[in-house]
Amino acid sequence: MLRSVLRRVLGGGQGWGAGPRRPIQSCSALVYRKHGPDLDQLRMEQWDLPAVGAHSVRLQILAAPVNPADINMMQGTYPILPEFPAVGGNEGMGEVVEVGAGVSSVRVGDWVIPVDAGFGTWRTEAVCDAADLLSVPRDVSLLGASTVSVNPCTAYRMLHDFQHLRPGDTVIQNGANSAVGQAVIQIAAALGLRTINIVRDRPNYEGLAAELKARGADHVMTEDELQRTGLGHILQEVPRPRLGLNCVGGVSGGLVLTSLDSGGTLVTYGGMAKKPLQIPAKSLIFQNISLKGFWMTQWKRNNRKDFHLLQSMVDALCAMLRSGQLTPPTCVLVPFQNYRQAIQATVQPHQCKQVLLMH
Ligand SMILES: NC(=O)c1ccc[n+]([C@@H]2O[C@H](COP(=O)([O-])OP(=O)(O)OC[C@H]3O[C@@H](n4cnc5c(N)ncnc54)[C@H](OP(=O)(O)O)[C@@H]3O)[C@@H](O)[C@H]2O)c1
Repeated sequence: MLRSVLRRVLGGGQGWGAGPRRPIQSCSALVYRKHGPDLDQLRMEQWDLPAVGAHSVRLQILAAPVNPADINMMQGTYPILPEFPAVGGNEGMGEVVEVGAGVSSVRVGDWVIPVDAGFGTWRTEAVCDAADLLSVPRDVSLLGASTVSVNPCTAYRMLHDFQHLRPGDTVIQNGANSAVGQAVIQIAAALGLRTINIVRDRPNYEGLAAELKARGADHVMTEDELQRTGLGHILQEVPRPRLGLNCVGGVSGGLVLTSLDSGGTLVTYGGMAKKPLQIPAKSLIFQNISLKGFWMTQWKRNNRKDFHLLQSMVDALCAMLRSGQLTPPTCVLVPFQNYRQAIQATVQPHQCKQVLLMH
């Protein structure tokens, strides 16, 4: 599937693309030709773009974040990997600058985001099939539009699809300062849910806790504190959580699991600690906790034919962005040519989301 997406994202000066071969434009792209742990394989190159065909469009990519999955893809550890040469980046937002004669879904000037992973968003322009795009309204911020399709969508699905939560119910999550975690806090608050937010200890913990509370977090605590005291005093204010969201794994994921109410569900969506999830048998036997996983890419592929379902989720999140209920994650804006800085920062602890600005 990924290969077919990459083929449809026309623009490989190196042989990608099923469309017309006559290059009429070129773009700058961050390209890699091998996997490796050090991430020094990425190079900025000039790539030819083919002419726009009847059902394709040309985009100017305006902004694209650097997400952990992008790093894992370059390292070769992600479950889907592109053919080489590959353009990095799975998420981003572009403005349509040219449309084929047979395209009616988007117009010149529209803002769009890729439907699927593997688009190769770290580039200044792309030519792709119009069917590979979803629209985003132009009255949301550039940062909001360019970061909406992966992390807020993941938060949205996890809050809706695993437990029947009612206003007043509690959700607990680790990695609460991640981009997903920030979106969970805001979407949960909009749904009337209470959140308990676990982060790693750090030098500026108080500042981070204040930032998350300003987003709507009810409670923030460190992993160490949770391990030492459990939820203790927090349970005088909120019910025991029925949904746990696990970004981290290892000990931290186990702590979230053991904080859940009987019959609760732990949804694992990340493995940032790169350690196996610690699961006490008693939580499964006596608390009847369910363990689930979630992968946004698979969800989108499962629902690929239901264009309205995909578009309505994005529309719902854009409405929240417009109303201010959802704000983009705390970001560092990085000029495109300084991409190495953004990549290196992403793999360091206690960093904000890095977003590449192409123009
Ligand atoms: N399954 C899905 O569909 C899906 C969708 C989106 C994202 N994800 C995954 O969700 C995770 C978060 O993505 P994101 O874009 O929101 O991340 P992000 O904004 O880049 O934030 C990274 C988070 O991971 C934490 N972290 C980094 N290294 C860690 C370690 N060794 N131990 C514990 N925590 C660590 C960071 O905490 P510090 O601030 O303390 O460093 C921060 O909270 C990633 O694993 C990503 O692949 C999965």
